[in-house]
Amino acid sequence: MIIRFELNGQSTELDVRGDERAVDLLRERLGLTGTKEGCGTGECGACAVLLDGRARLSCLTLAAQLDGRSLTTIEGLGTAKAPHALQAAFAEHGAVQCGFCSPGMIVAAADLLERSPDPSREEIREALSGNLCRCTGYGRILTAVERAAAERGEAPLPSRPQSGGEA
Ligand code: FES
Ligand code: FES
Repeated sequence: MIIRFELNGQSTELDVRGDERAVDLLRERLGLTGTKEGCGTGECGACAVLLDGRARLSCLTLAAQLDGRSLTTIEGLGTAKAPHALQAAFAEHGAVQCGFCSPGMIVAAADLLERSPDPSREEIREALSGNLCRCTGYGRILTAVERAAAERGEAPLPSRPQSGGEA
């Protein structure tokens, strides 16, 4: 089937299989390997992307469900030369070791900061509760999100779409 959606700000049209997962479309067909697959069963958060501005698990989302939606991956949040405030804060505050969990963490945090610009540490902990990290412990990750929240405005979060539903 043909789907049309916005991918990191670009209008995109693709022919997808009915059983094709969004994570496979992104990683294998589009080369957007910043989105990771850990568990593949909705347990680890590594595959999170922003769908209509909200964090969603791409391992549990069919490519067909992207039709008419706006999708932002970690590549669409920022670049090495122009990082998002969250990406910069993760690097600056030592919140990354192997980095496998980092895209999903940052996507979940971006969703949180869009809804709650000045979150408490407990709110951040709750927002990231579906994202697992096997390296850092979580203290530095929480601190990085706090710092990014404090620095918002220097790197605006992606704007919310005018319309759209839940995955
Ligand atoms: S790979 Fe999707 S939640 Fe783990
Ligand atoms: S930095 Fe390695 S899993 Fe989180």
